[in-house]
Amino acid sequence: MAVRTSFLALSVVSFAGVAGCQSAGGRASTAESAIPARNSVQFPSAWQFTAGDSAHFAEHAMIASNSRLASEAGIEIVRAGGNAVDAAVAVGFALAVTYPVAGNLGGGGYMVIRMADGRSAALDYREVAPLAASRDMYLDANGNPSEESVIGYRASGVPGAVAGMLEALAKYGTKSRAEALAPAMRLARDGFLVDSALSRSLSGNRRLIGRFSGRAVFFPNDSALKPGTLFRQPALAATLRRIVDHGAQGFYEGVTADSLVAEMARGGGLITAEDLKRYRAIWRTPIAASYRGYQLIAMPPSSSGGTTIAESLNLLETFSPVPPWGSAGYVHLLGSAYQRAFIDRNSKLGDPDFVNVPVAQLTSKEYARMLSKTIDPQRATPTPRDGKQIVDGMHTTHYSVVDDKGNAVATTTTINNGYGSGVYLASVGFFMNDEMDDFASAPGKPNMFGLVQGEVNAIAPGKRMLSAMSPTIVLDPQGGLLLVAGAAGGPRIITTTSQVILNVIQHNMTLADAMRAPRIHHQALPDELLVETGGLTPEAESALKAMGHRIRYTGGLANANAVMRVKGGWHGVSEPRAFGERGTAGY
Ligand code: DON
Repeated sequence: MAVRTSFLALSVVSFAGVAGCQSAGGRASTAESAIPARNSVQFPSAWQFTAGDSAHFAEHAMIASNSRLASEAGIEIVRAGGNAVDAAVAVGFALAVTYPVAGNLGGGGYMVIRMADGRSAALDYREVAPLAASRDMYLDANGNPSEESVIGYRASGVPGAVAGMLEALAKYGTKSRAEALAPAMRLARDGFLVDSALSRSLSGNRRLIGRFSGRAVFFPNDSALKPGTLFRQPALAATLRRIVDHGAQGFYEGVTADSLVAEMARGGGLITAEDLKRYRAIWRTPIAASYRGYQLIAMPPSSSGGTTIAESLNLLETFSPVPPWGSAGYVHLLGSAYQRAFIDRNSKLGDPDFVNVPVAQLTSKEYARMLSKTIDPQRATPTPRDGKQIVDGMHTTHYSVVDDKGNAVATTTTINNGYGSGVYLASVGFFMNDEMDDFASAPGKPNMFGLVQGEVNAIAPGKRMLSAMSPTIVLDPQGGLLLVAGAAGGPRIITTTSQVILNVIQHNMTLADAMRAPRIHHQALPDELLVETGGLTPEAESALKAMGHRIRYTGGLANANAVMRVKGGWHGVSEPRAFGERGTAGY
């Protein structure tokens, strides 16, 4: 096993079995040697979670998402003989019904697939800029970006979610559209009981949703849907029906498309019938990365996720030994690796169909060896203001699916902000995205996430805006499926997903601990180390400050959902930082 447990001495208090793990001889088990026992870990005393919690265990199949109802929709499909792709599609459509803050038909996403026979694939169904979009469309008279890239009709890219899910179903699924969409149709038509998480989320977004047509649907009698209300969405059910009956054409043409285009025209949006008709999801070659013998199957551009995770992990791999988890040394190395990987991300990555992206170079071990020489183990390096490399030369939702046949799917989908642009298309029952803000509206100036990005990610008609979404599948050194992970949270997706992975493969944590461990984030600019409040010991904090790090504490960094193989089955953990019900389902 590549993980060196000896360096865990400071943070590891005892060697323990897997919390919550059972040892029934399930279908998921492979060679026993491929399933290492996990270490227990100690979190800083001020941290909100204690280590050693249990995870949801299931013997055959497991899904972790932000909605239990959506995860159950996927498990229903697996129980009916479907595979992980069928289930992922069922979850995706169900999230559009039960988790309107981020689940969507009006957004886009990415899917990484690994079939039990060894095939892997990456599907890009990111939104594209409408044909009428132009480079400076969001700049005011002073050259500053306006809020139009975030709120209202002009903020939306052409949605890719429906095309993507149907493409995945057609190529890797085994079920019909009617079967895969049945749970979502049922949830929309017959309704589901609103829980306190949905009610609270709506209340928190009242001002945005209230500006557009969603007000009547989500705020009946002028207050947010109350917990316990049976919430039916007949317009959405009819939209889903047209997708079942006519496939992608039932969304990108016909009644749904006509309604969307008419609403856009009414509100000053740019999306036309031609934009919708031209939209296609694209199969891409996954990023194949590795870390100390573990293999990562990750998302290539137009997402920056896989490239940036690969570069960060390659940089960390050049350090041996890796300091113990939670130590100032570890946080410094990891933060410095992220800082460098984000400098490259922000200046060199964009839509590969429009710009040259040096993915092979950025993900190469040789490049990491060269770049790691710029990391001083004792000192933070300031991010150059010009965004050049140090050396020359919320809302989104992620779900992880494994089936009883050994297939796995990692999917992240988004409408960007919570409830997207706020524009709700009442006649067809869904929110539109505000994904245009992921472009560099004003190259060199920060976007909503504070990301300072370059010309490569400038707006152009038909172009995909750079994403941070990082659906990732990890294989153990024997090639067995180990972990399916990803997150929501803008640029913090990259750092959070890679820390969940590192917590498992470098620090040998259980999945429950890997998900609960405090997270850090560095995105080059602003030049600061973000740390979750209570996430550092006082000693680590003063050592990091002495190294020159500017530390800023923040609430929860990102929202991850992951599934991991354990002895006899699977562990599923949905984001412990999220309010409300846990979103795992398994059998
Ligand atoms: O694609 C991206 O990188 C962003 N649109 C993701 C936004 C996000 O995660 C917001 N969520 N909490």
